[in-house]
Amino acid sequence: MNITVVNFKGGVGKSMIAHQLITGFGYRGCEIDPYGSLSDRLPDMVERIEIQEKHLPQPVRDTIFDFGGFDDIKLDQAIGYSDLIVIPFIPTLETIQGTVDTLVRVAPMDKPILLVPNMSQKENDIADAKFVFDETLGFEVEMFALPMSVALQTAINENRSIIDLSRQGGIKGYAYKKSANLMRDLHAKIREYAN
Ligand SMILES: Nc1ncnc2c1ncn2[C@@H]1O[C@H](COP(=O)(O)OP(=O)(O)OP(=O)(O)O)[C@@H](O)[C@H]1O
Ligand SMILES: [Mg+2]
Repeated sequence: MNITVVNFKGGVGKSMIAHQLITGFGYRGCEIDPYGSLSDRLPDMVERIEIQEKHLPQPVRDTIFDFGGFDDIKLDQAIGYSDLIVIPFIPTLETIQGTVDTLVRVAPMDKPILLVPNMSQKENDIADAKFVFDETLGFEVEMFALPMSVALQTAINENRSIIDLSRQGGIKGYAYKKSANLMRDLHAKIREYAN
């Protein structure tokens, strides 16, 4: 299964999700982001695509395409290879426009879209964002919310899978279990779209 993770808005959690899918569930990564660090952090699993490159290599097996916060012709290629488009976003009024632009850009490509409200402060903000997206698209898109999590941030900082971290014993392992289960649930949701 190939997955494109995209949002023209920066800092919404694209690379965090890509990192956790790659380290936790055995995907390969393809980084299309000149400012990104995923391929430096996971050099054996992630291929870096240079900015001047016109073509993406055909993925040989389950691959996550991690885009930086910009538009690119390679986005069309990645989506063409993908079974699912994952769009993380932060549900605040100030940042919603970038996500709307992203939806308008990718929706015509007729691939399923999963929106991931990330680090939301209030439950209501997700409902408000959903209203805007459904109105924009004219159909409903599915959502899977991820809360702000110190455990997830620790996993990213330590360049580890949250699932792996949750396996350590004691009180620390316990703190990671909740976020690890959330990642498993997100992955299960993603797999529902596998062809
Ligand atoms: N649910 C979360 N809980 C805690 N920290 C998070 C969460 N999601 C993302 N972060 C952190 O927020 C920061 C921004 O996330 P990330 O780099 O994944 O965004 P991005 O969309 O890839 O940004 P860019 O457009 O610059 O590539 C990172 O430090 C990341 O680890
Ligand atoms: Mg990124």
